[in-house]
Amino acid sequence: MRRRLNARITGVGMYVPDEILDNKFFEKILETNDEWIRTRTGIQERRRLNSGATSDLATAAAKDLMEKHDVNPEDLDAIIVATVTPDMFFPATACLVQDKIGAKKAWGYDLSAACSGFLFGLQSGAALIESGNFKKVMVIGADKMSAIVDYSDRNTAILFGDGASAVLLEPTEDESLGLQDSILRTDGSGKDFLFMKGGGSLNPPTHETIDQNMHVLFQDGKAVFKVAVKGMADVSYELMQKNNLNADDIAYLVPHQANLRIIDATAERMGVTRDKVMINIDKYGNTTAATIPLCLTEYYRAGKLKKGDKLILAAFGAGFTWGASYLVWSLD
Ligand code: UT7
Repeated sequence: MRRRLNARITGVGMYVPDEILDNKFFEKILETNDEWIRTRTGIQERRRLNSGATSDLATAAAKDLMEKHDVNPEDLDAIIVATVTPDMFFPATACLVQDKIGAKKAWGYDLSAACSGFLFGLQSGAALIESGNFKKVMVIGADKMSAIVDYSDRNTAILFGDGASAVLLEPTEDESLGLQDSILRTDGSGKDFLFMKGGGSLNPPTHETIDQNMHVLFQDGKAVFKVAVKGMADVSYELMQKNNLNADDIAYLVPHQANLRIIDATAERMGVTRDKVMINIDKYGNTTAATIPLCLTEYYRAGKLKKGDKLILAAFGAGFTWGASYLVWSLD
């Protein structure tokens, strides 16, 4: 009989571009100010990639992981890239990354779940590992949000940044480690609150779609805020109940970094104090699929994560998509 396999994280990597856009940058081009941005969002600065595409961000994160954890690209079985800013419709960004890193034996695909992309990718990658058929699966969250942000819209321009982060999943027979459980949801009736309508089969690119500004991101921030708080908090709480966890059991809540006020509300609902919440929104803003693995990588590298730590990962994004995962950290 095949033994039950858990997927555990055996490597992490990240990349953010060098160019920093601080809040003062937006004061110069929009009717906004540093104080509003910091108090309403928690963001102080974000990064922007000037030349290159999402596959370049993802490749840099993958290479960082492989270098730090001594991984041979030819040993990778699969690459999942979670993104809403693929280099192009096709081929998939995962194919471009596969080629750029020399993962000659890997297959892979892109996954579109916006800010929940990493959680959906983690669950998908874990299922490949748990099948017993794949031994090394890389899950990358990568977005070049600057490619679809309207820098004349103060409601959205200040929120997003570019970045990528990768994790490597491998099997373990130790059921106490790795991904334990996830609750993931979608609700397409949320499609009118956060979207980019142009460029796809519904509105193929024309001069008209460009004139109507359909190739940039639109968000009804207030509406998304309300459902994001409830969605993330409810699902995290449900996951804790299901797994008999209370706040004291949890080493960290690792929330999607969209707004510090949403993060605080989620933590409060779970009864988790601020010191147990991973936060880096101040430095990077909302990097969409990259926020959660960026947090994991930075906290791990800062020595703040130890093997056996119980984590709740939670996200909410366009779709709507949302969910929470219960992960036991497995890197020394
Ligand atoms: O990651 C995917 C999921 N996304 C989210 O979770 C984001 C959810 N939404 C949010 O984080 C917040 O709604 C925002 C940060 C986008 C906006 O914050 P808010 O507190 O909901 O502000 P608001 O949209 O209610 O706007 C309040 C005021 C408005 O002015 P009036 O109508 O009261 O005069 C806005 O025009 O703030 C104004 N405003 C700004 N003022 C200065 C909006 N953006 C700005 C800005 N600078 N950048």
